[in-house]
Amino acid sequence: MKRTIKDLVNLKGKVVLLRVDFNVPIDKSGRILDSTRIVEALPTIRYLIEHEAKVVVMSHLGRPNGYEINKSLWQISLFLMSKLKCKTYFVNDCVGEEVKERIRTMENGNVLLLENLRFNEGETTCDMNFAKKIASLGDIFVMDAFGVAHRKHASTYGVARILPNAIGFLVEKEAQVLDQVLTNPKRPFVAILGGAKVEGKIKAIETLVEKCDTLLIGGAMAYTFLVASGIAVGHSMLESDAVVIAERILKEAANKGKKIVLPIDHIAYREGDKKQRLIKTDRLIEDMVGCDIGPKTIALFEKEISKAGEILWNGPLGMYEEKKFQKGTTQIAKTVALSPAYSVVGGGDSVNAVNKSGFANKIDYLSTGGGATLKYIESGSLPCLDVIQEKLI
Ligand code: ADP
Ligand code: 3PG
Ligand code: MG
Repeated sequence: MKRTIKDLVNLKGKVVLLRVDFNVPIDKSGRILDSTRIVEALPTIRYLIEHEAKVVVMSHLGRPNGYEINKSLWQISLFLMSKLKCKTYFVNDCVGEEVKERIRTMENGNVLLLENLRFNEGETTCDMNFAKKIASLGDIFVMDAFGVAHRKHASTYGVARILPNAIGFLVEKEAQVLDQVLTNPKRPFVAILGGAKVEGKIKAIETLVEKCDTLLIGGAMAYTFLVASGIAVGHSMLESDAVVIAERILKEAANKGKKIVLPIDHIAYREGDKKQRLIKTDRLIEDMVGCDIGPKTIALFEKEISKAGEILWNGPLGMYEEKKFQKGTTQIAKTVALSPAYSVVGGGDSVNAVNKSGFANKIDYLSTGGGATLKYIESGSLPCLDVIQEKLI
């Protein structure tokens, strides 16, 4: 059992470096479209405030290439401020003298949010010199960024290896729920996969095939699988390097008697069509770009969902950010929500899409992890949780 923040004593005056995942969907002007990941981190932040720690909150946002103003955490700090009663500061850096000075002068029980960690390239390469610089800011490290706990980055894996540490309430809750999902799931266990981060998620599908009975694949993920089954996908988003893995997964599933259901029709447009007229099509040929699953696919997926005992869903089934490509995701969200099966939906975009559909309150569990949830299911743990100290018994 991992040490949790409840096991930390004498927090008063201690500088606690709290890693959260505030990688929330935002629009072009930086407006937060879904605050679930921030709201879910609040119990840990409030606990540390109540115990009079100096709370230094750190996160990434998106995948910036150096500094990008629209990926600054400044907007997020304004939202955080509105949710907390204490003073909440922001600095536009995540290491260095200015940050140290701000921490030195802040009072116990107050919060400081650092700038996007990924503006520094040492973050994603897990540069231990960068990790040391972060660690030098504080006394204790608390890992509550479940959504990014599958990534060995400087502020997650690196800092945990340097400072005394513990997990926060969110990570504790996520791990407990996922352990339950994996132990004796009610059958048929139906997994729904979509989204765009194919490369990072496809390996987890190999394990999912073992654990679940039926796999419904939509979103950009589907095109890699369609190509692996010899079906044309036009100019849809494709992860060419992952086609071999998809082929292997399809073969293994067939050998094990597991069902993989791929889209049989699509909502698409033709590349170069300035008006982007929508096409409802069974075949994606030439310059067609598939952006959502079509009505026949929705019906096919619904048939499988209606039989499910348990459902796990990650990844929107279309480019749900645009209204015209929302139907597949929204309709499936409704079907999953109204099904009597135990349902878990995970991922920043997936949770946003389900919230948008208006059926989120009927989903049994909304997880903040997308790739992390799949990785947890694949290996029963996550690299950044493995490095957290065990509870002293
Ligand atoms: P999550 O955040 O839930 O883990 P991902 O980040 O993997 O999900 O994927 C979300 C993204 O997938 C969205 O931005 C959505 O537009 C994109 N997407 C879904 N379907 C398609 C598609 N057919 N083509 C391109 N992108 C897609
Ligand atoms: C996510 O949104 O899945 C997490 O914040 C991790 O983001 P990443 O895939 O860019 O590492
Ligand atoms: Mg996402």
